[in-house]
Amino acid sequence: MSDKSNINAVEMLNITKKFGDFTANDNINLIVEKGEIHALLGENGAGKSTLMNVLYGLYRPTSGTIKINGEVVEMANPNIAISKGLGMVHQHFMLVETFTVVENIILGMEVTKAGNVVLDTKKASKDIKELSDHYGLRVDPDALVSDISVGMQQRVEILKALYRGADILILDEPTAVLTPQEIDELTEIVKNLASEGKTIILITHKLKEIKDMADKCTIIRRGKYIDTVNIAEVTERDLAAMMVGRDVNFKVNKIDQEPGETVLDIKDIVVKDFRNLERVKGLSLEVKKGEVFGVAGIDGNGQSELIEALTGLRKIESGTVLMNGKDITNHTPHEIQDTGLYNIPEDRQRRGLVMDFTVAENLILENYDDDQFSNGWKLKHKEIDKHAEELSEKFDIRPRKISAKANELSGGNQQKVIIAREITNDPELLIATQPTRGLDVGAIEYVHEYLVDQRNEGKAVLLVSFELDEILSLSDRIGVIYDGQIVSVMEAEDTNERELGYLMAGGNVNEKAE
Ligand SMILES: Nc1ncnc2c1ncn2[C@@H]1O[C@H](COP(=O)(O)OP(=O)(O)OP(=O)(O)O)[C@@H](O)[C@H]1O
Ligand SMILES: [Mg+2]
Repeated sequence: MSDKSNINAVEMLNITKKFGDFTANDNINLIVEKGEIHALLGENGAGKSTLMNVLYGLYRPTSGTIKINGEVVEMANPNIAISKGLGMVHQHFMLVETFTVVENIILGMEVTKAGNVVLDTKKASKDIKELSDHYGLRVDPDALVSDISVGMQQRVEILKALYRGADILILDEPTAVLTPQEIDELTEIVKNLASEGKTIILITHKLKEIKDMADKCTIIRRGKYIDTVNIAEVTERDLAAMMVGRDVNFKVNKIDQEPGETVLDIKDIVVKDFRNLERVKGLSLEVKKGEVFGVAGIDGNGQSELIEALTGLRKIESGTVLMNGKDITNHTPHEIQDTGLYNIPEDRQRRGLVMDFTVAENLILENYDDDQFSNGWKLKHKEIDKHAEELSEKFDIRPRKISAKANELSGGNQQKVIIAREITNDPELLIATQPTRGLDVGAIEYVHEYLVDQRNEGKAVLLVSFELDEILSLSDRIGVIYDGQIVSVMEAEDTNERELGYLMAGGNVNEKAE
């Protein structure tokens, strides 16, 4: 009998993957031991998702070999991957909203498990409940997917993979869509899975998560293998430098300045959500010229409804919103933009891009009728292309190909397109909701510098983020949002992560945390 414990769970050897003449993976090696949590780190567009799609049989490699538990496998399709014990949770997961958790989990299994047809949802529900309890996932099998949070939906994806017998789990940016609380819970779950002998490949841009969770990390840069390191032996700074190929600046340059007049003045507004429940409950705040106003809060305390109301996408039931003294309450999105209010939207998949359009087209989505880009009915393609070339360069959108369709870009590069479009509109007030979600550290550095530059130039910036370090390092003033109201406003230099955390959880403003 051979000793299985010495066999690697995954060996990807000399993997090359080309799309046309573009090489997304260039001779990459990835070796993952059984029971290990192995992080895969690289900038936006480095080739991480592509490599994992190759492993899961979604893409055929142009060349290279894959071994699973020591055996060479021709990964022709995901069914082969599943039969070899692989499971994958994608960067943008897809569950059927109108189905229950159980229905989603057993969906398609009748086909994959021929001869062992699972149609008994009662039994499946019981099995799934047991599995969920075993790994501490706390999923309700009978809940409707449309009724559960994003974090819970993700656990359903994990459960789905486990239910199909996965021993090797690929998690592609599982934390990008989660709140800090959900991230802590996921960290526990992942560690639990590993201690039960599961092998985990984890993609994340958050270096802290890699330090917290992973045993090893493989770094790739522009499609090429750089190194595999033991996490215990490296710092976050080392990882960042290996990833981008230069030192990364974690500090932003804020010049000392006094804020000017009020640009955005929100007075006592009430906004309802799609279920007709009040989510913003008499909220007031002011953002001044030359300041970054950060809104700190736990997801679901009215942030989305607030931003939608400010940008004209949701009705304001009562109260007023003024832009430079002009009443814009319940004006149309277009009228609001004309006052200089621009927004980097939170839901960048749905609100941000037309996936079938090119990068150049997406970059003028809101300005195509400007004189710069059209004369009446005819588009000025030369101007549009020139504009796109400039922004691609400035925001380092990769690949540098403005005729590429948005759906050919990596997740992070899609975000750069939206950010480039929104912040080059020369706003008076820029609203940035989770502006760095899914971005690599190099891109984050750029976006942070950009937001602070706007502020330094005297523009007003309203920042909404779940990342407290982001809020603390960029903001001049911080407002804590809780249950639809701003419960406290502080100078950023007078507060800290602990105090914010306490207030965000509904702590009493007058009895601050020790
Ligand atoms: N279907 C495709 N057609 C053409 N090019 C593609 C396709 N899929 C990916 N690419 C290109 O391959 C490169 C690697 O993309 P990939 O999605 O693997 O990046 P990533 O490392 O996962 O990045 P991110 O952190 O932004 O998710 C990118 O330059 C991308 O534009
Ligand atoms: Mg990716």
